[in-house]
Amino acid sequence: MRPFLLFIFIFLFISTAESVPFTCTSKSAKCQSLAGYFSANATTLSSLQALFNVSSLPSLLGANNLPLSTPPSHLLPPNSTLRIPFPCSCSAASGASDRTPVYTVRPTDLGLDFIARNVFLQFVTYKEIAAANNMANPNVITPGEKLWIPLPCSCDPVGWQETVHMAHIVAAGSSLEKIASEFGTEKDVLMKLNGITDPKSLQAGQVLDVPLHACSSSISNNSLDHGLLLPNGSYALTAANCIQCSCSSSSKYQLSCNPIQGLNSTVCPVTKCGDLYIGNSTTSGCDQTTCAYEGYTNSTGLKILSGLTTQSTCNVGSPRAQPPASSQPGGNSSPNSAGRLGLHRYWIQLIVLFQMALFFLSF
Ligand SMILES: *[C@@H]1O[C@H](CO)[C@@H](O)[C@H](O)[C@H]1NC(C)=O
Ligand SMILES: *[C@@H]1O[C@H](CO)[C@@H](O)[C@H](O)[C@H]1NC(C)=O
Ligand SMILES: *[C@@H]1O[C@H](CO)[C@@H](O)[C@H](O)[C@H]1NC(C)=O
Ligand SMILES: *[C@@H]1O[C@H](CO)[C@@H](O)[C@H](O)[C@H]1NC(C)=O
Ligand SMILES: *[C@@H]1O[C@H](CO)[C@@H](O)[C@H](O)[C@H]1NC(C)=O
Ligand SMILES: *[C@@H]1O[C@H](CO)[C@@H](O)[C@H](O)[C@H]1NC(C)=O
Ligand SMILES: *[C@@H]1O[C@H](CO)[C@@H](O)[C@H](O)[C@H]1NC(C)=O
Ligand SMILES: *[C@@H]1O[C@H](CO)[C@@H](O)[C@H](O)[C@H]1NC(C)=O
Repeated sequence: MRPFLLFIFIFLFISTAESVPFTCTSKSAKCQSLAGYFSANATTLSSLQALFNVSSLPSLLGANNLPLSTPPSHLLPPNSTLRIPFPCSCSAASGASDRTPVYTVRPTDLGLDFIARNVFLQFVTYKEIAAANNMANPNVITPGEKLWIPLPCSCDPVGWQETVHMAHIVAAGSSLEKIASEFGTEKDVLMKLNGITDPKSLQAGQVLDVPLHACSSSISNNSLDHGLLLPNGSYALTAANCIQCSCSSSSKYQLSCNPIQGLNSTVCPVTKCGDLYIGNSTTSGCDQTTCAYEGYTNSTGLKILSGLTTQSTCNVGSPRAQPPASSQPGGNSSPNSAGRLGLHRYWIQLIVLFQMALFFLSF
């Protein structure tokens, strides 16, 4: 009886995979989010575009800062990570991809857990897929069946800066310090966001909520692309593909938007602020005045909005956005590497000890 119980315990702890939904407290908020998909095998852009139901190739290219001319057949080498853009929706204090991607069960899929682990790399657990799809019996899947995969995401701002959240899979041998420095954030921010109290508990394969610093923009809140939020090192097409916006830390995290190949007056209305075209700027003294993209409407045909913004170009290197003030000094402790099954081992050892104690007490 007891050894049996023990196995049940071990099974439970091993099969509750690392994935936990991300906290999303901005009630009923919707936003853009990312998942860093790691592929051990060589693959193509188009196969990942299909797997994740990304409707537009330019949005996949933009999220990864790949040139707009990159063909869908573009081969990604083994062990590469592609950022998958998807819409996020917050409800009940956590966030999930908004009814996308829809995965069609293949004859070779061995079960829901297989799909969660091998196809979607534990971004989700089989329980989350079952719950999202109101499956009566998660043990039964049928080839051809369509399943919504609720990817973890969040729309919460981090500190005061504009944020795009990315679901990141921890690589073997990585650490919170390494991840923080790779994505331009801080160890303490990662700990707080992910409810991590002991950095040593980080495990390979664990899914972390990583906040990426995004650009603020002049897009008006009555524009159809209101809420366009791009993280550092990415771009997106907007306004019926007439405008390309990009975000980089070098432009002081201010979204920079320009017409694509000059505005075509038949398709894309020419938009100016006085003498300046969208994206153009003039400098006088310290002040740089730019004709900024402010969004678009489409009630009586496509209309592109613009307005002048002024930025000081003096004291370059002025206060770069700082992560939230929760950060403390002392990030120089020895790196805590992600060990396989780090936390699980502790739990299992605890349970084994507990079971052994019960076993001996029963004599
Ligand atoms: C990668 O390729 C190997 C060999 O072709 C195959 O066994 C494995 O299932 C593939 N992995 C994925 C995630 O497709
Ligand atoms: C998403 O994938 C499903 C299943 O393959 C397909 O039916 C649907 O058309 C796809 N949607 C998009 C936007 O690609
Ligand atoms: C991919 O990574 C694995 C594990 O780190 C390694 O064994 C393998 O050689 C890598 N493959 C390539 C093509 O780099
Ligand atoms: C922003 O992106 C650039 C290049 O894409 C990179 O060099 C830089 O480190 C990034 N900055 C942050 C804070 O992530
Ligand atoms: C748009 O923003 C302005 C000020 O930023 C605010 O006063 C207004 O209520 C907002 N409108 C909507 C529809 O959110
Ligand atoms: C603008 O509206 C027209 C007609 O209502 C529609 O066909 C078109 O797809 C819309 N364009 C965009 C970018 O929403
Ligand atoms: C603008 O686009 C229309 C439709 O695609 C095309 O017929 C026209 O030649 C273009 N005009 C210019 C100036 O590129
Ligand atoms: C101003 O914008 C137009 C149209 O986008 C572009 O062709 C031109 O080169 C720009 N001029 C300057 C000085 O940037």
